[in-house]
Amino acid sequence: VYKRQIHNSENIEKMRVVGALAATQLEMIEEYIKPGVSTAELDRICHDYTVNVQNAIPAPLNYRGFPKSICTSVNHVVCHGIPSEEKVLKNGDIVNIDVTLIKDGFHGDTSKTFLVGDCSVLAERLTSVSKEALYRGIKQVKPGNHLGDIGHATQSYSEKNRFSVVREYCGHGIGEIFHDEPQVLHYGKRASGVELKAGMIFTIEPMVNAGKAAVKLLPDEWTVVTKDHKLTAQWEHTILVTETGYEILTLRSDDTIERCA
Ligand code: MF3
Ligand code: CO
Ligand code: CO
Repeated sequence: VYKRQIHNSENIEKMRVVGALAATQLEMIEEYIKPGVSTAELDRICHDYTVNVQNAIPAPLNYRGFPKSICTSVNHVVCHGIPSEEKVLKNGDIVNIDVTLIKDGFHGDTSKTFLVGDCSVLAERLTSVSKEALYRGIKQVKPGNHLGDIGHATQSYSEKNRFSVVREYCGHGIGEIFHDEPQVLHYGKRASGVELKAGMIFTIEPMVNAGKAAVKLLPDEWTVVTKDHKLTAQWEHTILVTETGYEILTLRSDDTIERCA
């Protein structure tokens, strides 16, 4: 753990501000997510809200060449789906909207899987299991616990429900740097890996697959899909390690977990 990864109270306050903006953006976009809307339209709405209303910067735009302001990952797309005019949401789809904002030099990163209209029982169960997997991971966050406790919690809950967790992509330290160390794996052994210390900030963002864990990268070099083309879902929060536990910096009004512990 580098010095920069233990944040002082001034930086933590900036992370609270940008975290709240990212959370508000996911609340804002909900009413637009319905059959017939293109993911490009959702991207435009988020872009304009970020820039014109929130006076913030959409971190994905031009990040390592990413062409849009948010990621929109539909059905078998695991993560990093690129918004497009051709991708029109239809009844029964599930879509993960992943937003990252920069305000005052600091990043807030959060995502949620939305149900579009009436979804299958499997889609609903996968979406709720991946949300609960995130919550189980968050509940492991406190000084003295290890990153492996988080990974063990997200993995064991997902697999108990006969789903699998993606190995190739993980949570990450976050602050002035979008993707910082440490890597936060969503699988692992209890009490293994980096020990958590108050002032650390990282994301937890389990990708949970209905079928096998294997993924593949499409030729656009961004879109990650399940190899078996089965459904996948993801939820993400930005988390601060406090003296007593955790603080969810990207908490929304629809969250069903306490902000702090
Ligand atoms: N927000 C994603 C994450 O959770 C990263 C998106 S990078 C992008 O880490 F370039 F694809 F936008
Ligand atoms: Co992230
Ligand atoms: Co994200």
